Amino acid sequence: MSKIAIVYGSSTGATEAVAEKIQAALGDATLFNADGVNVEDLKAYDFLIFGASTTGVGDLQDDWEILLPKIEKLDFSGKKVAVFGLGDSASFSTSFAGGMYVMYKALKGKVEIVGSVSTDGYTFDESDAVVNGRFVGLALDEDNEYNETDKRIAAWVDDLKQYLD
Ligand SMILES: Cc1cc2nc3c(=O)[nH]c(=O)nc-3n(C[C@H](O)[C@H](O)[C@H](O)COP(=O)(O)O)c2cc1C
Repeated sequence: MSKIAIVYGSSTGATEAVAEKIQAALGDATLFNADGVNVEDLKAYDFLIFGASTTGVGDLQDDWEILLPKIEKLDFSGKKVAVFGLGDSASFSTSFAGGMYVMYKALKGKVEIVGSVSTDGYTFDESDAVVNGRFVGLALDEDNEYNETDKRIAAWVDDLKQYLD
């Protein structure tokens, strides 16, 4: 059985609530808040799910910004990573869910990153988080497209199951 950890960074609670939904959909995963997580504790997990909201203009959520340099130093041998990111595609239509890309960019090449998502059904103008025509992970918009969230989580978790032993 893969041991799964979800590490979320959330400034006003939206990403935290989504992380709990992802945990429930997976059935067996441990939640960590990026604010205060001990990176040593993540070594025991072989599947890591990193989630963060977007701040500034396409920037990574504050707690994750502090955590990321420590995460980059983890020994990722034998591990897989998936990312999810929240954003507001109406107010920030040209930097939608950019925080997710900041994590992806720091980790690509160091670890296998799985769980890219089609941009079909999303409304936005530009996003760093789109690489080769797909989101690098699960993009969610709790400000405008909250009606889509449960469906998007269910489809994503279903897709991730192929990578879990
Ligand atoms: C100061 C500020 C800057 C933001 N910048 C962006 C942005 O560049 N792109 C984006 O998609 N969302 C942006 N957002 C929207 C948040 O990412 C979104 O509301 C998210 O759901 C907040 O999640 P949290 O409560 O977990 O932090 C911004 C929000 C704030 C308050």
